[in-house]
Parts: sequence; C-alpha cells; structure tokens
Amino acid sequence: MQEFNVSTKVYFGEGALERLRRVEDKRVLIVTDRFMNQLGVPERVASFLTRCTVSVFDGVVPDPPIEVVTAGVEAFRDCGAQAVVAVGGGSTIDAAKAIREVAKKVLDVDTDKMECFAVPTTSGTGSEVTDYAVITDRERGLKYPLSSRALRPMVAILDPELTVSAPPSVTADAGMDVLTHALEAYVSTGYNDFSDAMCEKAVSLVFRFLPLAVADGNDLLAREKMHNASCMAGLAFNSAGLGVNHGMAHAIGGKLHIAHGRINAMLLPKVLAFNADLATVHKGEYCVAARKYQRMAKVLDLPAPNVRLGVTNLIHEAEKLNRKIGIPATLKAQGADLDKVKEMKEELVAAALADATTATNPRPVEAAHVEKILAEIMG
Ligand SMILES: NC(=O)c1ccc[n+]([C@@H]2O[C@H](COP(=O)([O-])OP(=O)(O)OC[C@H]3O[C@@H](n4cnc5c(N)ncnc54)[C@H](O)[C@@H]3O)[C@@H](O)[C@H]2O)c1
Ligand SMILES: [Fe+2]
Repeated sequence: MQEFNVSTKVYFGEGALERLRRVEDKRVLIVTDRFMNQLGVPERVASFLTRCTVSVFDGVVPDPPIEVVTAGVEAFRDCGAQAVVAVGGGSTIDAAKAIREVAKKVLDVDTDKMECFAVPTTSGTGSEVTDYAVITDRERGLKYPLSSRALRPMVAILDPELTVSAPPSVTADAGMDVLTHALEAYVSTGYNDFSDAMCEKAVSLVFRFLPLAVADGNDLLAREKMHNASCMAGLAFNSAGLGVNHGMAHAIGGKLHIAHGRINAMLLPKVLAFNADLATVHKGEYCVAARKYQRMAKVLDLPAPNVRLGVTNLIHEAEKLNRKIGIPATLKAQGADLDKVKEMKEELVAAALADATTATNPRPVEAAHVEKILAEIMG
C-alpha cells in the first residue's frame, strides 16, 4: 500500500496572502531572516494579520544551524506564540518547522494543533508542503534532513509577488532544486502515478518558465508558474522520495557551503547518466529509470524515438538549462577549493551514502559510484 497525502492547504496565485486575514486573535510569531526583514517583507505579511499580535524573529541564516533553532525557540517562548508564520526561502521554512518541533518538546506546548503557515519567497525547496527540515551541524559540516509528519505545515501560501525581489542567482539556484526534486522523485524507488503526474507537470513548467523568471524577475506569470512547480515537486518527493543527487548535495553543501540548488544542478546531468546506466541491458531492456527518462523527454517534446536518445536529449536539455541560467558546470568553475575537496573525499562519500535521501535512489549506490560522480563535477 502506498500513500499520497496532500494535507497542507495550498493557496496560490496573486493575492494569496489574503488567506492570512482569517487568522484571528492570536499571538503570531513570524520567522524570517534579516534580509527579508530589511526588505519589509514580514511587515507586509503582518499587514494581513490585522486581528493578531505579531512578533518577528529574523535570526534565520541560509542552511540554518542548530543555534538558529535554539534562538527561535526562545523567541517563540518570549512572545507566547499561538501561531507560526514562516516567511522566506527553504532555510526559513525549515528553521520554523524545527522551532515548532523543539518548542513542543522543551516548552511542553501542544504545537500539533497550532496553526502554522509557510509563505515561501523562493521557488525551490517545496518545504511548504513537505515533512522535511534540513538543519546544519556547523561544527561537523553536516546537513541533516529531519523527517516527520509533524513537520508538515498546515497552510502554504504561494504568492508570486513575494518572489519578485529574488535576484537571478537565487532564482536560478532554487529553480534547479525544483527540477532536481522532480527528476529524482520521478525515478525513485517510491515513485507512483500520483507523484509522476506532479513530476511531469513540474518539469515542463521549469523548462519553460525558469529561464524567463531568471531573465526578468518581474515576470509575474513566470514567477507564479515556478512557485506552483516548486510546490508540485515538493508534493512529489514527499510521497516518492529523492535520491543520490540530494544525498551528495547535502554532503557537499554542508562542507563547501555551496547553495543547495546550485550543487544539485551541477550534479544533475551526471546523476541522470548514472541512474540511466545505458551500458547495462537486461533481457533486452534498459533499466526502469532510463525508460522513465525517455518518457520525460517525450513530455518535453524532445526527440526520443528510443531510450538511448531520450536519455541523452534529457541530459543535454538539463545541461543547456544550467548554461542558460548561469550555473557553472564544475566545482572548479564555481571557485571551490579543489584541494580541500580531495582532502575531504572520504568524508563526503561516507556522508552521501549515509544521507537518508540516497536510500530511495533507483540504482543502488556504492562508494565508487559517488567517487566517480564527484570526480566528474570537479573539473
Ligand atoms: N525541507 C525541504 O523539503 C527541503 C528541500 C530542499 C532543500 N531544503 C533546504 O532549503 C535550503 C535552501 O533554501 P532556498 O533555496 O529557498 O534558499 P534560502 O532560503 O537559503 O535563501 C537563499 C538566499 O536568498 C534570499 N532570499 C530568499 N527569498 C528572497 C526574495 N524573495 N528576495 C530576495 N532574496 C531572497 C535569502 O535571504 C538568502 O540569503 C537549504 O538549506 C536546503 O538544504 C529543504
Ligand atoms: Fe532540494
């Protein structure tokens, strides 16, 4: 038996923030980061919470460490929060999820029934509908994907206007996270008809609208479509799981501090080739992942008369998109310290293999595979 559970209520499109007007007589904690606060975004969100007392915690930083969660729990306690509204990128939404969970344990408050809203300002992680929160252990340079149904936000508000201020590089990186979620969930060991439908739509939307959103941040249609794609890909991987692309991205991102979407994007063409495994034919057939990539190529109207061409064209299309939106192809081009990468190779490989997301990769992953993919993106 499998489950596809869409319990988060999703409000989308221009004006979606209006949903917040329904929150009444509550002490609300807005969780955000300093930059969003300087842009006046929490203020704008608070203007819809007219019948509430609002406090703002703006201590989130990208790839939030445990210390941010601890400080957020203090803010939660100080204002006696009765509802939490996360306003920011995946880092903020993840931090807010963890803050609620820790508050439940250490402050002994029943956060399970408490209203919690996720208001994404990037179109990337899909965290507004997932059971995951990625927290970083800075000392050990490790990223932990926490996973629990209790982490899932009750309400997601996808207002494209909030993403307009995201600069091209943030838009590009986050957008490639969406593509990676959808392409990993499409072939993961947990894929199903429901997640496949979400993946096919999300992938089509990304290829069409991500270049437009990067080229012109004020293109509201492109922003809206990317926001929807991000949420759909989140619903897909929440049901189906991810794979070694994310396992390696967490390992490398934790050590080298490369934006999550960017490292995913660099790995993606290599992981597609690894999963398709075109060198292996069993009883006259390529593996399921290769055949599904061919199907995805057809969805995208790419030439795919056979599996090999379908896979090859899908990989080329992902590489082309990376180039178009300014994502470097290698760690060297990204400016990473390659000597450091070589030094940390064993640790990186071990962390990627141990990452929970690697477990649902369609092709069983061994240390030698991770080493090879790592070598391929080094440059
Ligand atoms: N929970 C999940 O299911 C899940 C899935 C994938 C990734 N993640 C995690 O999410 C994090 C990445 O999130 P992200 O890609 O959304 O980036 P982010 O939240 O780290 O934000 C990146 C930067 O963009 C800025 N920013 C965000 N929105 C902006 C806007 N509208 N205008 C201007 N600047 C803006 C932020 O201030 C920040 O400096 C990583 O830690 C990653 O591991 C979580
Ligand atoms: Fe991701």
